[in-house]
Amino acid sequence: MEYIDLRSDTVTRPTPEMRAAMAEAEVGDDVFRDDPTVNRLEELAAEMLGKEAALFVPSGTMGNLLALLVHCQRGDEVIVGNRSHIYLNEAGGMSALGGIQPCPVQNQPDGTLALEDILASIRTEDVHHPITRLVCLENTQNICGGVPLTPEYTRQVAELVHRNHLLLHVDGARIFNAAAAHNIPARELVEPADSVMFCLSKGLAAPVGSMLVGTTRFIARARHLRKMLGGGMRQVGILAAAGIISLEKMTKRLGEDHARAKRMADGLRQVKGLVVDAGSPYTNMVYLNLADDVPANAGQITETMRNLGVLVDPENARRFRLVTHYWIDDEAVEKTVSAFAKSLN
Ligand SMILES: Cc1ncc(COP(=O)(O)O)c(C=O)c1O
Repeated sequence: MEYIDLRSDTVTRPTPEMRAAMAEAEVGDDVFRDDPTVNRLEELAAEMLGKEAALFVPSGTMGNLLALLVHCQRGDEVIVGNRSHIYLNEAGGMSALGGIQPCPVQNQPDGTLALEDILASIRTEDVHHPITRLVCLENTQNICGGVPLTPEYTRQVAELVHRNHLLLHVDGARIFNAAAAHNIPARELVEPADSVMFCLSKGLAAPVGSMLVGTTRFIARARHLRKMLGGGMRQVGILAAAGIISLEKMTKRLGEDHARAKRMADGLRQVKGLVVDAGSPYTNMVYLNLADDVPANAGQITETMRNLGVLVDPENARRFRLVTHYWIDDEAVEKTVSAFAKSLN
């Protein structure tokens, strides 16, 4: 059975155009910097994000980890959202591999960290304290609803951060979704950031890979550490060829995913037994709960939905996240709404 898969935008398969480009990609040994396709992807990524240089990495998790390792020394502290991917879902890499301590600050419902909370979390100079080195923002903020942070907010955080001699890293796994939601180029969203990671393998539909961008010096150090972590890949132009299509073409169509998420949310709001979050969706993620009077739990509904051909991701016993992407068309939106209606009634 061909499932409608709404569990994440990471489930996207490469497009036929990507598969053709991958088959024909010109390649070389990228550890020697000899792969022309990777070099082109890195130049394009740096240009689109408005930074000096870029590095192709196997995953978003490795991109974020490299940024932390370059910016911080062992024993340093990093201010992160308490609902951020870096804090919750990257296997504790910063502590285990970098000796870096996270300082979690509450994510507000709109995905931001309050400026006063960031300020209050910066350590004073004291022999007892770790040294605060870095602040991380996540844009779009996944767990808070796929919320896009604004360029104004990011600028305010950057000013505070730099005034206090710290650095700013943006986990922009879905930065192009944020850019589409604000209808501005991605580079405007990250202009004051010292480094940015974004993913090719989510809504941009590439099969593998993320990009880390920043200054030439930062990327040179990240390249060295990528090798140390075993992420020096060889004829990886095969993958970069898909990434180039992600950047040149897929970034331009994300508004379609957002419009379908909106249509899906509107449809689900009519289904008795579901409570779609107020304001959802902001980008390509619809968050919803089961109403209190629904006896079934999210696990049971997930099973029924699977039998009806729709894969969904239960966040907990009462909550779901549905993510639209390249492979979700208008018909899939309608089928999802009617599958939920059947599952509940
Ligand atoms: C906000 C955010 N950052 C980082 C990542 C990590 O990306 P990867 O799964 O490629 O390691 C994800 C993955 O879902 C994410 O949602």
